[in-house]
Amino acid sequence: MSQVKICGGKPLGGSITISGAKNASLPILTACLLIKGVTQLFNVPDIGDIRTMLRILKQIGVKITDGEEPGSLWIDATEINCLANLADAEKIRGSQTLLSTMLTRCGEVRLPPLGGCNIGSRQMDLHINSLKRLGADLEMEQGWIHMKTSGLKGSTIYLDYSSVGATENAILAACLAEGNTIIENAAQEPEIVDLINFLNKAGAKIFGLGSKTIRVVGVKALKPNHYHRIMPDRIEAGSFMIATVMTRGDLIINHMSVADNSSLIYKLKEIGASIDIIGQDSVHVRMKKRPNSFQIKTMPYPGFPTDLQSPMMALACISEGVSVIVENVFENRFQVARELTKMGAKIVTTEKVATVFGSSSLTPATVTSPDLRGGMALILAALSIPDTSVIEAYEKVDRGYANFEKKLVSLGVNITKQEELT
Ligand code: UD1
Repeated sequence: MSQVKICGGKPLGGSITISGAKNASLPILTACLLIKGVTQLFNVPDIGDIRTMLRILKQIGVKITDGEEPGSLWIDATEINCLANLADAEKIRGSQTLLSTMLTRCGEVRLPPLGGCNIGSRQMDLHINSLKRLGADLEMEQGWIHMKTSGLKGSTIYLDYSSVGATENAILAACLAEGNTIIENAAQEPEIVDLINFLNKAGAKIFGLGSKTIRVVGVKALKPNHYHRIMPDRIEAGSFMIATVMTRGDLIINHMSVADNSSLIYKLKEIGASIDIIGQDSVHVRMKKRPNSFQIKTMPYPGFPTDLQSPMMALACISEGVSVIVENVFENRFQVARELTKMGAKIVTTEKVATVFGSSSLTPATVTSPDLRGGMALILAALSIPDTSVIEAYEKVDRGYANFEKKLVSLGVNITKQEELT
């Protein structure tokens, strides 16, 4: 367990650089299992979920060494142990793409029930159905997914819902399957485009990047010896933008993807922020007044991202008037509302809708991160309060944000982290 103490109330100012994307790094790391040889990755973020994934890959027999540049890794999957126990995969949801990659590489995979944030049922039916369409058989073994194939064959896959993970698994399995695969109603998240770019550099033939229909022409093997720089994390960038607005700050955010954050930029401008776009990869965010209330509905990309819903709830708590937040992606993603009310927030939630009655300020409190993005919402709330708040279970935030507290210190925030509390 770890916790942070934040004495907020000061405008966030200066400039900050965004780290590599968690949700792009995780599937790309598993994709390395499809390449018999060495791959070099750059800009891999130093976060809890990645440390867990690297541990799992090492257990499978992948050799991983650090490159010279921070965040660069040499991944050597020339030889792997197909019988390795994947029990640690239960610790993170991002291990879901081990299903297709181990199945493709080994012809068989056993994956435990997957963990990650407790934000909904997070089923695997769409993943399993996609792999079945490509010729894999399923047996459930006490909650574990056991899939086998004597050789994957291209097919047509229609996803009932544009699931990010299921789209990734379908693409990964189709890459080395015999023949062509069409994936209809695919998810369009930028992290999937990054995964496809990575695979195509290695010789995969994937078409329709970023569209609802993806076509994969199976190839015999993927080539080693190429490198890939992981895209910037749009949720980290978004969290810093929201932090700036909540503290009436003035911040330049560098090395982000402006295009990938357009739904948030649009919304923050609507509530009164000034956002100047500098080229393709920087923004200058300024806020001089109390934000206006707003409405958001989370949706698959390019809709408003569910991963920024909790941070926006923190923003709604100090906005002028009544904000309405509709969560359409995960059915259990309002848990942070209870913690925010300990800070004086007024929030009413039903199953999918949160109504937030904005107050001019929140009050300091000791609160507990319910999940990764909920933990970020609490940090953002604390940044707006000119007194000391304590955010417990900070390790949940560390799962997805690289050195967030250190980045805040570099911006002059009074934040201290305490490790290993029991
Ligand atoms: C990924 C991201 C997560 C983000 C989410 C939505 C990673 C590691 N995580 O999660 O940060 O919040 O996309 O943008 O990339 N579903 C099913 N059956 C399935 C698969 C999914 O019913 O087989 C449901 C889920 O329960 C959920 C919804 O579909 O309600 C969205 O899930 P999905 O898009 O698959 O998200 P993840 O890949 O788990």
